[in-house]
Amino acid sequence: MDSDINEQELLDLESKYCSYGDTVHYIEPSKIFESCNGSWLYDLDGHPYLDMQMWYSAVNFGYRNKEIEAMYNEQFNRLPQLACQYLHKEKILLAMEIARETEKRFGIRGRVHFNVGGAQAIEDSIKLIRNYRGGKSLMFAFMGGYHGRTLGCSEITSSYRYRRRYGHFGNRAIFIPYPYCYRCFYGLKRETCNYECIKQFEKLFETEYYGIFDPKAGEAEFSAFYVEPLQATGGYIVPPSEYFAKLDKILKKYNILLVDDEIQMGFYRTGKLWALEHYGIKPDIVTFAKSLTNGLNPLSGLWAKEEMINPEVFPPGSTHSTFSSNPLGTAAGLATMQYMKQHDLEGSVKEKGRYLIGRLKVLQKRYNVIGDVDGLGLALRIEMTRSDGFTPDKALADKIVEEAIKGNIEICGKKYGLVLDIGGYYKNTFTLAPALTISYEEIDIFIELFEAVLKRCGV
Ligand SMILES: Cc1ncc(COP(=O)(O)O)c(C=O)c1O
Repeated sequence: MDSDINEQELLDLESKYCSYGDTVHYIEPSKIFESCNGSWLYDLDGHPYLDMQMWYSAVNFGYRNKEIEAMYNEQFNRLPQLACQYLHKEKILLAMEIARETEKRFGIRGRVHFNVGGAQAIEDSIKLIRNYRGGKSLMFAFMGGYHGRTLGCSEITSSYRYRRRYGHFGNRAIFIPYPYCYRCFYGLKRETCNYECIKQFEKLFETEYYGIFDPKAGEAEFSAFYVEPLQATGGYIVPPSEYFAKLDKILKKYNILLVDDEIQMGFYRTGKLWALEHYGIKPDIVTFAKSLTNGLNPLSGLWAKEEMINPEVFPPGSTHSTFSSNPLGTAAGLATMQYMKQHDLEGSVKEKGRYLIGRLKVLQKRYNVIGDVDGLGLALRIEMTRSDGFTPDKALADKIVEEAIKGNIEICGKKYGLVLDIGGYYKNTFTLAPALTISYEEIDIFIELFEAVLKRCGV
């Protein structure tokens, strides 16, 4: 392998040998990075890029986090490989940590089950539900929700785009409007809506003719509702604080399980271990992945209530993947759990989030193309619009991303780049997920860089 290979040669090789189907090419050509540290990525020329999306929230605790890496390296040097049919202490201790921390928060005893990626954890949760509910396979999920791109996950992820070329595999969920109040599905205003969205959902159970519920049998045809406590890929949408408690009441009434997908919002992204904690309700299943290992090794999993997952009802081999509880992943996971216990993330994420959103609101006042700014903890959104402050402007958001990633924004004589990610229903929303370890100085640099890019884009 030629170590002197340059950027253009690498891109040429990519276009010849890499499938483009396994990822998304947001910008052409895609950027090649060489190293990372803290909140920063470095390109082949050593230029720094402030990362405000941290691998879709898979690296919450900063690149090359020393404390987490130390435990990972120790595992690497001792027991890096082991078939999952045998046990290693890191797997057991990690399951215990997650189960105990979850029990502390929700007061429910449960067990933890591992797999490799987020989608696989979701697939496992579907199996768990179908098994527990006698094969009942119909689910509710949210419009704008994202739960992965395997064939099964695509059925509960709202975008038809993910199913269009493949046909159906299992049962497509019924998609319910998420409380995206800035662009309310029912065209109402939060101050006066009186939770019309909740009323509309409950109405579905009013008569058998709406196709959801058999009042004579007292039974719903649907077994579970998949929720993201903050809608992630949908554009970091923060629901009104009472929404989930109201939804949960209906689900309990009709015996529908609540699956809390924490794959992107878990591990203190919003200032809590599980984002659902903000709403004072309890899940039946929690799915997690991404930052469980701080991005060091693929590992995902789920927590479920004892009655759903104990070995009597969900016996060995109910799911299996060769790498499911791999030693490097579980060691990184255990190190991440310890890191979260040893640092006051609840306090610091709340404070930094408040500071960042405050600075963004000031920018919003100055630039009428910033239609919405919102957030919880360090999960924040900036919605780019036309100058009316409402009409989505995808072209402007794309232009900003392209300028930001060029790596040539000058501050005090030094060149920087900015890593931004776009999400949202109209692909006009920056979904900000900075490292939870970001410093206040770095937040200030972000604001400076972002404003410089806005100016470059003629705003
Ligand atoms: C909420 C949520 N669920 C599931 C997934 C799928 O996870 P993965 O990409 O690891 O399969 C994602 C990925 O972005 C996600 O954000």
